[in-house]
Amino acid sequence: MTLSAKDRLLSSIRTIPDYPKPGVQFRDITTLLGNANAFATAVEDLAQPFIGSGIDKIAGIEARGFILGGAVAHRLCAGFVPIRKKGKLPHDTVRVAYSLEYGVDEMEIHRDGVKAGEKVILIDDLIATGGTAEAAVRLLGQIGAELVAACFVIDLPDLGGRRKLEALGVPVRTLIAFE
Ligand code: PRP
Ligand code: ADE
Repeated sequence: MTLSAKDRLLSSIRTIPDYPKPGVQFRDITTLLGNANAFATAVEDLAQPFIGSGIDKIAGIEARGFILGGAVAHRLCAGFVPIRKKGKLPHDTVRVAYSLEYGVDEMEIHRDGVKAGEKVILIDDLIATGGTAEAAVRLLGQIGAELVAACFVIDLPDLGGRRKLEALGVPVRTLIAFE
């Protein structure tokens, strides 16, 4: 990714201080999504290393991972499987609990969302503590996915999420970072 593409992505993201609680600098990607050039750059850069590598499915994490993951799935001619907050998926699911920078929650995936051995890339907008992504990795493991990589537009390196996933043996790709 060129420096100017990185700068375009960085400057397309809006920071909201003290949201959703005091002390959190919220990195708001709605401004990236509303900018056609930045949105296209993010989707292309997330997909680029995996073009032609036979990815079967993109797993996207609710909610912002749906928007980016759907677009990356289209780019890679792959299917899409949603990882959702509890109680939203209609069929048989597996569920895990996880903690966030600002709370706790549970999430689920359909048990038949990925066939055993299918090659999957996990996509979300941002990795902070890595709690959400780690839970998604566990869900994908429980249903037999072959996880090729976990990819995020934004890394918050001070919160250690990337190291947490790498310690599980998951290759991590991020496009930009906010210290
Ligand atoms: C945000 C973000 C990631 C997660 C990262 O989602 O989109 O999914 O936090 O945090 P972590 O690395 O500390 O787990 P959020 O939980 O705010 O849900 P939303 O997208 O539904 O608003
Ligand atoms: N999810 C967890 N931490 C976040 C942050 N600082 N900005 C946006 N989404 C987040």
